[in-house]
Amino acid sequence: MDVGTVINTMRDPAGVPATPVVFQILAVATWVFHIAFVMLTMGTGVLAVYAFFRRATGPFWEQLSLAMTKVAKVSVSLLIVLGVSPLLFTQVIYDPQWYTSNVLSAAWVIGFIFTLIVGYCLWFVFYEANHDGAKQYVGFYAVMSLAIFALDGLIMHVLAYQAILPAEWMSWYAPGGVVDTSGTKLHAIEWARYLFIMSLSAPAVGLFLLAYSEYLTVRRDKTREYLEFARDLGRKIAARGAIISALLAVWWQFDLPASTGLRSQPLGWLIPAGLVILAWLASQRHPRLHGYTMLSLGLVMVALLAIWREVIRVAYLKPFGYNADTYTVHADWPSTILFFSTILGVGSLVGGYYLTLLYRAGRVEGVYTAEPRVDRLGSAAVAVLVVWIGVFFVYGVAIWLRNAFLA
Ligand code: HEM
Repeated sequence: MDVGTVINTMRDPAGVPATPVVFQILAVATWVFHIAFVMLTMGTGVLAVYAFFRRATGPFWEQLSLAMTKVAKVSVSLLIVLGVSPLLFTQVIYDPQWYTSNVLSAAWVIGFIFTLIVGYCLWFVFYEANHDGAKQYVGFYAVMSLAIFALDGLIMHVLAYQAILPAEWMSWYAPGGVVDTSGTKLHAIEWARYLFIMSLSAPAVGLFLLAYSEYLTVRRDKTREYLEFARDLGRKIAARGAIISALLAVWWQFDLPASTGLRSQPLGWLIPAGLVILAWLASQRHPRLHGYTMLSLGLVMVALLAIWREVIRVAYLKPFGYNADTYTVHADWPSTILFFSTILGVGSLVGGYYLTLLYRAGRVEGVYTAEPRVDRLGSAAVAVLVVWIGVFFVYGVAIWLRNAFLA
């Protein structure tokens, strides 16, 4: 039996509840948010440590280090939560690839959870200890934490990369004909791809600093000099970081196998080109190019990367006759409607409420009292949650009753 037949046979016979392209779009779109927070974590994390070790050299480094430590702390939790959705969608349409890849490196997959816990704890130790007059050694907790996060990113990369190399699976599973069930090996790493994605943390933190200084201009407890310092630093990091990332993107382009035809696809080249433009824009001081515009452009770049990863996956799996579009569909309209109405209703009202609240609260000093509009949004968010929980249970009970008494 050839590998193509195997991976097509390994698909879940239950099929998918809606047309597969829906899951493909959702996998790509939700990954954007996951990786954006990976970049923010790594970028703000490295900057927090750098600023920590530079505290003695200038008036603003300590303030910056404390601020970036807090951003990274929150960002890790968001990258974890936001990693779940692309994980689910990938598992739905690329289950043969994802599970095989996970089993082939199972020890690393299990280790991933524990290392993530240790890495996050270390960041909290740094966060607690990073205050006025903190000892230098405290910074090494943060260095260890970031090294562990980088390792976790490498594990994620290996899982994603091994998944698109089915021709190699047998030689990894049974090298020389001897079965190896240890799962202790990381079988394939594409350094160009991994380093490029991780390097985007530099332009990301640069763009974040531009938006950060813009956002805090209304706060009287943040001096104009500090915000100017953060903006200038952001410009420098974004411009230089984007150039380094652009070079790594070119390396990745040439690293793609010639047989896939991916090297000559314009979309792949749009990424380094876009990064060069971003670097140029970041170095400008044009008043219209304020922090939020630049951050939005950065998000567009991340979206391009997400689409490009999917194009690569499709191209790698094509020779094996694997196409997500041909996944068996067993339409389940009620659950599809429930899913999308949850995203629309709960997502927009509850998510919108939290985002509005955080945005407004961060712009005032001391205690924030919600304005009537934000207050109403809060009530609507609670109401939609109550409706959602009600619908969820009524739907479940209705199905249970139907199966128990009518089937
Ligand atoms: C510090 C922790 C993490 C880091 C640094 C990290 C980093 C990365 C990177 C660099 C990639 C892209 C790999 C590539 O395309 O080559 C990736 C993909 C991914 N990550 Fe994470 N990640 C982390 C934690 C998580 C967690 C906790 C989850 C799930 C809850 C998750 C879910 C995913 C998924 C689903 C993908 C895409 C896989 C695919 O498309 O095949 N990640 N991550």
